[in-house]
Amino acid sequence: MKILVCGGSGFIGSTFIRNYFQNHTNTQITNLDNLTIGSNQENLKNLENNSNYKFIQDDIRNEIFIENLVKDFDVVINFAAESHVDRSIANPKPFIETNILGTYSLLEAIRKYDKLFVHVSTDEIYGDAENLSSFTENSQIHPNNPYSATKAAADHLVAAYHRTYGIRCIVTRCTNNFGPMQFPEKLIPKTIIRLTKNLKVPIYGDGKQIRSWIYVDDHVNAIDSLISNGKSGEVYNITAYEEISNKTIVEKILDLMNKSHNNIEFVPDRPGHDKRYSINCSKIETTTGWKPKYDFETALKQTVNWYLKNLQWWEPLIDEKMLHSQPWTLDWSK
Ligand SMILES: NC(=O)c1ccc[n+]([C@@H]2O[C@H](COP(=O)([O-])OP(=O)(O)OC[C@H]3O[C@@H](n4cnc5c(N)ncnc54)[C@H](O)[C@@H]3O)[C@@H](O)[C@H]2O)c1
Repeated sequence: MKILVCGGSGFIGSTFIRNYFQNHTNTQITNLDNLTIGSNQENLKNLENNSNYKFIQDDIRNEIFIENLVKDFDVVINFAAESHVDRSIANPKPFIETNILGTYSLLEAIRKYDKLFVHVSTDEIYGDAENLSSFTENSQIHPNNPYSATKAAADHLVAAYHRTYGIRCIVTRCTNNFGPMQFPEKLIPKTIIRLTKNLKVPIYGDGKQIRSWIYVDDHVNAIDSLISNGKSGEVYNITAYEEISNKTIVEKILDLMNKSHNNIEFVPDRPGHDKRYSINCSKIETTTGWKPKYDFETALKQTVNWYLKNLQWWEPLIDEKMLHSQPWTLDWSK
């Protein structure tokens, strides 16, 4: 099978590529990534000499290039995105450009060459589940921040291309991921990194925002199972563990690092912050037999240990802005 992975140098895309090679023989993967925020070439360094792996530095918005490229593959997976909510609040434009126009560019090529398109979306597009039951794939979507609005727009485009042009496609909507090689600005790595530098850990608002989490390997295995067994035109929710508040996650990390809870610093909440995300993922379990394998406490401990042992991975990526306690107040356009 020949797979084009877009955004494969980021956190989830690179985990997908490494795991896919481990679990499948007879596979060729090309990774197309423009090496912007979230990317790190170190993530796939061990594949440099693998003749079945190829890297192309380019942009999914580059329509002519993308059209020529896509025709050589069986499956195209789109992980490429501007992915950080805080930055989207400060500067929405790159999110509109990559997450909407980039997806449009891929869809145009897909409809020309009839390839399977796997679009990696997010549970954030359902919006706030406060006082509601868990969202299913049929729930209405109510994105509340520029990031989730652009992801929702892309989901609509994929659905419209399926209905209008009959493209083959699968959309995944996953909860918050964690694991090794996640960019330092996201909650779990940022907490660990700030603590190693003896900085307090900022918690937005009261910290009672509820999320459910998934270990990144479980997410990419779910995508793998959908490539083989997913039904074209369908959306699949992906989640793993019980819901947990942001404050509790930070406290668990403090405990794992033997630090006092006094290291928490409450800061003003970010604008538009959803109180709770909650999805039901029985559809993927019934369709593909996929189930999460990793226990949350063990996976969190492994993740903390990975960051403590791999300073050389994250040190070059961080600066004051990256570790800022209210990143949405900064100008990220420069
Ligand atoms: N991280 C999560 O918790 C989570 C949860 C659910 C869904 N998702 C979705 O999964 C996907 C991957 O997320 P991630 O956490 O790995 O993000 P990431 O920011 O770590 O990686 C994104 C990758 O896309 C690349 N990219 C960005 N714009 C591009 C463009 N125009 N052309 C080519 N490449 C481009 C970046 O260079 C980077 O390597 C995203 O679509 C995100 O919306 C993430």
